[in-house]
Amino acid sequence: MNRRSTDGRGPAIRPRVLLLSLAAGTALLASTMLVVPAANAAASTLGAAAAQSGRYFGAATSSFMFSNSQHTTILNREFNSIVAENEMKWDATEPQQNGFNFTGGDRLVAHARANGMSVRGHALVWHAQQPGWAQNLSGTALRNAMTNHITRVAGHFRGQIHSWDVVNEAFADGGGGGRRDSNLQRTGNDWIEVAFRTARAADPGAKLCYNDYNTDGINAKSTGIYNMVRDFKARGVPIDCVGFQSHLGTTLAGDYQANLQRFADLGVDVQITELDVAQGSNQASIYERVTRACLAVARCTGITVWGVRDSDSWRRNENPLLFDANGNKKAAYQSVLNALNSVSGPNPTTPPPTTTAPPPTGGGCTASVSLNSWNGGFVATVKVTAGNSAIRGWTVRVALPGGTAVTGTWNAQASGSGGTVNFANVSYNGQLGAGGNTEFGFQGTGTGPSGTPTCTAS
Ligand code: XIL
Repeated sequence: MNRRSTDGRGPAIRPRVLLLSLAAGTALLASTMLVVPAANAAASTLGAAAAQSGRYFGAATSSFMFSNSQHTTILNREFNSIVAENEMKWDATEPQQNGFNFTGGDRLVAHARANGMSVRGHALVWHAQQPGWAQNLSGTALRNAMTNHITRVAGHFRGQIHSWDVVNEAFADGGGGGRRDSNLQRTGNDWIEVAFRTARAADPGAKLCYNDYNTDGINAKSTGIYNMVRDFKARGVPIDCVGFQSHLGTTLAGDYQANLQRFADLGVDVQITELDVAQGSNQASIYERVTRACLAVARCTGITVWGVRDSDSWRRNENPLLFDANGNKKAAYQSVLNALNSVSGPNPTTPPPTTTAPPPTGGGCTASVSLNSWNGGFVATVKVTAGNSAIRGWTVRVALPGGTAVTGTWNAQASGSGGTVNFANVSYNGQLGAGGNTEFGFQGTGTGPSGTPTCTAS
């Protein structure tokens, strides 16, 4: 106001002052925006837009697609979570009984780590995509094979997976709201809770989800699952989340959001896990409504689409994804991005971690063993802890008494036999920050390791 004084010089100097203060204001605004984005600043990618409310936005992919530069450019630019479309399933990870193959899954995890993404795990047990040997098993043999599979696969990826689909598609379609018949179901109705308890023991840090389709509203199937989750919560069966696959056609149930909310009210997170929507006049609007429904439910922690481009899709003749076959953004993409940007939304209770590795330098390490043994066998869990500085890799030397033999190892590479076995880090757990730790395990026959193991860092 004082500047408005009419001293005669005012008009001459005022423009300069105004210019200076405008410039200062712009600089201040720019630096503020860089450091702390406003809650509703428009983010330009799906992952960044979802992250504004603490959620993730993911896509299904396959390690063999990483060499496709168009696919991978979009994947890395837009998404902050990935899931293996097929490579962590039972047929892929255990093609022979007790013969495990983690090649594809490890490549996915490494890609996620290199690009600051979290990883969903899909799927530990399912009636489909079982290896032939498991399809031919029944009863106790199948039950034991199931728990061994979960222990080994979840153990291998321990600490790397944000949420695991522990059990996939165990409920029947149609009006009954009951279980689907399968070889797993025929081992006894408790197979699902056994699977969850086994997964919790194998990877205590992962969120454990039940995942299914045709659950996109309040219907007999989703109510059957709802009743199971309520029962699990009441009895202390370890379940943390429910996945809604959301393979959608050209309509969306009006109670889609209400259904998510009733599950959240049971005390579990909910996630949209395999979203794709048939191409049609409603595609963009259905994508938008699903996104808004998740944003409106505080415990809806993230959305995953089942592929990147229409040409990558398992429903490719329906063009159900957010990018066309040439990698162009579709109208559905814009509607999802706008929806994510329009709502800062309630923050999920648990923001997803990303799998990032600490910078490598050099330093020492220590190792400690916890042993679970029984007459004739044991499972050993070994914690490796870096010393005062970060390390690039580690080797743990374990002494074994006579008559003890190692029969399986996870999260480490075993070598040597007889009295001493060396366990070296694998690709994803060698780098530890100062004071950081990781765990690996092995099982065997006999009494188990004796004495304190020695750890050598590189
Ligand atoms: C599909 C994959 O997309 C296909 O590549 C594969 O041939 C079959 O499985 N529900 C699920 C997913 O949980 O694992 C399925 O993925 C799609 C339906």
